[in-house]
Amino acid sequence: MNSNVKTHYTTADGSSTLLSAQYGAHYHSLHGAVSESMHIFVEAGLMALGQKQVTILEVGFGTGLNAALTAQRGREVGVDVVYHTLELHPLSKEEYMLLNYSQQLPAQAAALWLSACDAPWGEDFTVEDGFTIRKINEDFTQWQPTVQYNLVYFDAFAPDDQPEMWGAEQFQKIFDAMAAGGVLVTYSVKGTVKRTLRDVGFELERLQGPPGKKHMLRAYKR
Ligand SMILES: C[S@@+](CC[C@H](N)C(=O)[O-])C[C@H]1O[C@@H](n2cnc3c(N)ncnc32)[C@H](O)[C@@H]1O
Repeated sequence: MNSNVKTHYTTADGSSTLLSAQYGAHYHSLHGAVSESMHIFVEAGLMALGQKQVTILEVGFGTGLNAALTAQRGREVGVDVVYHTLELHPLSKEEYMLLNYSQQLPAQAAALWLSACDAPWGEDFTVEDGFTIRKINEDFTQWQPTVQYNLVYFDAFAPDDQPEMWGAEQFQKIFDAMAAGGVLVTYSVKGTVKRTLRDVGFELERLQGPPGKKHMLRAYKR
């Protein structure tokens, strides 16, 4: 467990986030954790893909917020989700209970969040009908995919904080593990990230970013 994560902050939309002392980085935008997660991952990812059955890979489970909001939206629109998520430093219960999502999220989403956080590591766990999660406690840079993904939530800490997560070898591994027509979404629009994604074969689309951020990226495997 990562005892380096201690400090929690309230972001501009009222939802909280954590600061990783180890990486010197926040888990979400201070302009709004829930707003960012909804905009980049749920709306520009899950909803834009428009499929009724989706297998998602998330890089960085973190606080479980993306997972919970995805489960909630999937339930609302009738999308079945299989959610695989990698995390090298799982938060302890004490740490994730510092977050205010139980109060900030609608009751159903709050229950999904707690259930996803409490889910065991290393096995498939049905959070509810239509949403199964596999939390993988491994180093993304060493991990090898074994299934195909339709949608990738690339939510590592920023390239300046953790360059090893954003290299060509890592994006190639993801590209190869994606189904044709698959989509990757991320908040970073850094030049080197765009070049690397293009080099491994993705087609890029720059979209409007969440509050406080001009742009985000959506990448397609055609
Ligand atoms: C921006 S946060 C993810 C936020 C998360 N998606 C959420 O909804 O709260 C990045 C996460 O990547 C994790 N991480 C850092 N290095 C990693 C690695 N090598 N492999 C897997 N996860 C890693 C961090 O511990 C952190 O939880």
